[in-house]
Amino acid sequence: MEVIIRPDEQSAARLVGGIIAKELHARPQLVLGLATGGTMEKVYDELARHHREEKLDFSLCRTFNLDEYIGLAPDDPRSYRAYMNRQLFGRVNIDPRNTHLPDGMARDLSAECRHYEHLIHDCGGIDVQLLGIGRSGHIGFNEPLSALRSRTREKALAPTTIEQNAIYFDNDPAKVPKRAITMGVGTILEAHRCVVLVTGKAKADIVAKAVEGPITAMVTASVLQLHPRCTVVVDEAAASKLQGTDYYRWIFENEPEWAEFRR
Ligand code: GLP
Repeated sequence: MEVIIRPDEQSAARLVGGIIAKELHARPQLVLGLATGGTMEKVYDELARHHREEKLDFSLCRTFNLDEYIGLAPDDPRSYRAYMNRQLFGRVNIDPRNTHLPDGMARDLSAECRHYEHLIHDCGGIDVQLLGIGRSGHIGFNEPLSALRSRTREKALAPTTIEQNAIYFDNDPAKVPKRAITMGVGTILEAHRCVVLVTGKAKADIVAKAVEGPITAMVTASVLQLHPRCTVVVDEAAASKLQGTDYYRWIFENEPEWAEFRR
């Protein structure tokens, strides 16, 4: 795992957008794992900018989102499908047929979960998985005590998550769906590369637990410590409870891989 600290939210998102743009340039058929949430909006702005200004080509790119609420139709503006159409798919030249999210309206939800796993497998697996961390420590909707080898499945949302996501549901926790389909922790760990973005003071405690705490199902993001190629990008505010910041900064300054991103 590497931790990169950027001065603010904007430069953290710019770095993450830059990493993904570079991967997509190098491999136009990239299989990209995508995340939702407020933090990711700036990354999608960056990717739209790369497309606009540098003709970053999404025409062969295939995408798989981490999760979707159960019971929300794709055209419901609060669904993650609608979020993705707004934030990214409608702003770049991606073929909508190459974009995948679990179907939260499927009649047979467990069949849908199995189908989603097969689709990922048939595309050859995920090359780069973009991730945020929820306040419960979740990745995707893998709430505390999710099995660390879990696959795509239905999951009940933790009260903290319902509270955090209520802002998208008229600030009314009662309106937030109680269940979701999410890629499993095991599914996420199979991605060839993971890029995690976490910003803001409210996430400082959970980032410190995920990065420097023990690997535990109570903080599913901590399992990323096992991933062979995981980059965690944080802003100063989210980094404020980390112990090892001098070391992380030293690595970022000295690893040749990051030279082009230091500007
Ligand atoms: C949702 C998503 C997660 C995401 C989290 C963070 O719960 N299921 O994948 O990481 O939101 O959201 P935010 O960026 O709004 O803090």
